[in-house]
Amino acid sequence: MTAESITLESSYWDTADKPPFDFYEEVQSMGGIAWDDRMRSWIVANYNLAQEVLKDDELFQHPYMSMKAGGDYMKIRSDNPRSSMFLKGERHRAFHKWWLVELLSPKVVREYRKDLVDPWIDHLIKGLEDRPAFDLVEDFAERVPMGIFAQLLGLPQHDHAYLDHVKALNDAIGRFASVANALQLEGEASAEARRVADEAIAAAEELNDILKPLVSERKNGEGSDFISQLWRGGHRVFDDWNELDTLDACRRLLFAGVDTTTHAISNAFHMLLTDDSLMAQVRDEGSRYLDRFVEEVLRLNGSIQFRPRRASASTELNGKSIAQGDMLTVAIIGANRDPRHYGCPHAVDLERARPHDHLAFAYGPRTCLGAHLARAEIASAVSKMLVRFPAMRLDPSRPAPAFSGFLMRSWRPLHVLAG
Ligand code: HEM
Repeated sequence: MTAESITLESSYWDTADKPPFDFYEEVQSMGGIAWDDRMRSWIVANYNLAQEVLKDDELFQHPYMSMKAGGDYMKIRSDNPRSSMFLKGERHRAFHKWWLVELLSPKVVREYRKDLVDPWIDHLIKGLEDRPAFDLVEDFAERVPMGIFAQLLGLPQHDHAYLDHVKALNDAIGRFASVANALQLEGEASAEARRVADEAIAAAEELNDILKPLVSERKNGEGSDFISQLWRGGHRVFDDWNELDTLDACRRLLFAGVDTTTHAISNAFHMLLTDDSLMAQVRDEGSRYLDRFVEEVLRLNGSIQFRPRRASASTELNGKSIAQGDMLTVAIIGANRDPRHYGCPHAVDLERARPHDHLAFAYGPRTCLGAHLARAEIASAVSKMLVRFPAMRLDPSRPAPAFSGFLMRSWRPLHVLAG
């Protein structure tokens, strides 16, 4: 095999702030896995290969601690080496099972939807009713998950300015994840990448200061709120589960659940606002198609574009030799558009035989713990908005949406005319 046959001409990094779908096709044309010099990583964009990598977290491990940015990750996680982000093996399995089966199970999420999600979305929509035009991203999508998590964690849910500030801190950490996951802090980090990392460390410290009193005051674990539940169940992971572990779990919830869902809600609306027949189908026959539409949003634009992994031993993937220590970037949205797996991979198809078989929430032992909640939020946001604003359309007099971001991407702004 020649260097040309495994090395990409373009780099994934150059697709920032653009739709990356042509790039995924380039990787797919090279067997679904190819080397990206600028990313210092293999890019994996085939469905089967992506599944193979994601399901084996012994051979293809979470790389955070072994990265050059490992020290930054550690600072962002409060210098807590027991952060759930760094857990492996049995301890990770115990953490994963606890959250999946207890804290965020389908039954729990059904209750959350009734008590938290639907009422919060009704409240946000009420605030938009008198406005002839608004930005669906800034005035709605960004507020949906933040308000829900505020209530889960006990932050003042109705103080928009305060929540915007908490979200801005969380976003700073998201920008760090983008450059760190893209390995831009390996080798000679640019001044810009370093600035992003330093801002994220400062934001993490401020977020910790906000959350610490809430964590301490619920230490007796007697309440029904999320923090009390963390205190009650933490012994499943560590016998001596402590304040730092609880704080870290709150931060994980906020980081994993806010930005991701905001981007997915924005992408859902962009898909509807740019496709009249899809809009009509979902609006007029929502009860039949809503859940399937949510799955297609997740498959096509899911919000998280990729996940990094490191090979713990030499191996082979589709004839390409992977050396021990090599990085792999699993392009999950590329895999979700693999023509070998999906007929019409780039098109919305509300009749797919297996609507849930996409990799938007990853796959295997590290699959997303908030998938049920994310689905509930997207479905509620879409259905309630379309009922209240059935004639909503993009405002041609305002800037058009652009696909922005890197690790997470969405269409923004979404200026709409309400009726
Ligand atoms: C559309 C929204 C979402 C998407 C696309 C998404 C996607 C993902 C993906 C791809 C992973 C795997 C990360 C990896 O293995 O490297 C993940 C993990 C995770 N997600 Fe989500 N997520 C979403 C929403 C949420 C929500 C709402 C929550 C919390 C309620 C959440 C909590 C988590 C947690 C805690 C993990 C870590 C799992 C572990 O360590 O085993 N996510 N998510």
